[in-house]
Amino acid sequence: MKRILVTGGTGYIGSHTIIELYKRDYEIDVLDNLYNSKITVLDKLEKITDKRPGFYQVDLCDKEKLDKVFAEHEYDIVMHFAGLKAVGESVEQPLKYYENNVGGTVNLLECMQKHGVKKIVFSSSATVYGEQDTPKYDESMSTGMGITNPYGETKHVIEEILKDVAESDPEFEAVILRYFNPVGNHPSGLLGEDPNDIPNNLMPIIMKVSRGEIPELSVYGDDYPTPDGSGIRDYIHVVDLARGHVAAIEKMKPGVLIYNLGTGKGTSVFEMIKAFEKASGRKLPYKVVGRRAGDLAEMYADPAKAEKELDWKTELTVEDAMRDTMTYLNNL
Ligand code: WQD
Repeated sequence: MKRILVTGGTGYIGSHTIIELYKRDYEIDVLDNLYNSKITVLDKLEKITDKRPGFYQVDLCDKEKLDKVFAEHEYDIVMHFAGLKAVGESVEQPLKYYENNVGGTVNLLECMQKHGVKKIVFSSSATVYGEQDTPKYDESMSTGMGITNPYGETKHVIEEILKDVAESDPEFEAVILRYFNPVGNHPSGLLGEDPNDIPNNLMPIIMKVSRGEIPELSVYGDDYPTPDGSGIRDYIHVVDLARGHVAAIEKMKPGVLIYNLGTGKGTSVFEMIKAFEKASGRKLPYKVVGRRAGDLAEMYADPAKAEKELDWKTELTVEDAMRDTMTYLNNL
């Protein structure tokens, strides 16, 4: 049975991916520093899958402890989700992001090299594309230009590091998955996006507004050149995203494979508000404020490459994500 080390496995996307991996009978260990997630996620994973991953509370910046993990087990694949991801915080504290995200990944890759682990799936982001002259993003587009924050820069730098390692070692296999906007949660409602930090992203903020933790949602601009004036993004259900990871590891080969994981459909902020109100049965308080620096008007995936090469495409909708989000909120 293949053994997988999932870094950041108690986090939002990592934990949902583990659920899908267990359907394929992998052995799994989680490595997480619990900076932005809770160890109780392991109990929820066990409840959902009847299996419990091994767990190491290790920080990727602690190379000594990290090396010990690789000395204990022979891993076939590393799925690398661990990293700081608050865009706003990255602007205020860039070095914290470079040290954690880039430094931590270099440590991880050095440990993999020392222990002969040659396969990695990397959790990247559509943010690496910067602004293009079309809202529909495909993998042939340039990256690294016009990235508006250090968080996105770290994702781009790590992508370049993976390409360089693959150049240096013909046996090295990497899959880079560029996420658009993950939303929703497992239909059980046991797992959800539950960050310890102050969220940047639209859905966790909507969830906090609906719980009364934030008085109202600030809509960052309604004067964009879009049908209803609000920003448009590609909101992909996290269960579809998780399934994309499983599809990817089954197609790995020497070299670097790169895929966009998105629905291929754009949804505006106002449409997201309406979808949440429909699922919750109540109005969501919001006010329109000025645009957020660095925001694009419109961005959504061209998912054709993943569909063709990974035999994967999204099956769930924004409405499914809102339904599952309500199950999670009602479970709290
Ligand atoms: C979505 C839309 C905002 C909050 C992020 C980051 C990164 C990436 C996902 C993985 C935009 C609007 C938001 C709010 C709002 N994840 N908005 N009020 O900007 O696409 O970027 O994408 O790498 O986290 O790159 O996602 O959720 O922040 O914003 O009006 O309080 O919601 O203007 O149009 P974004 P987001």
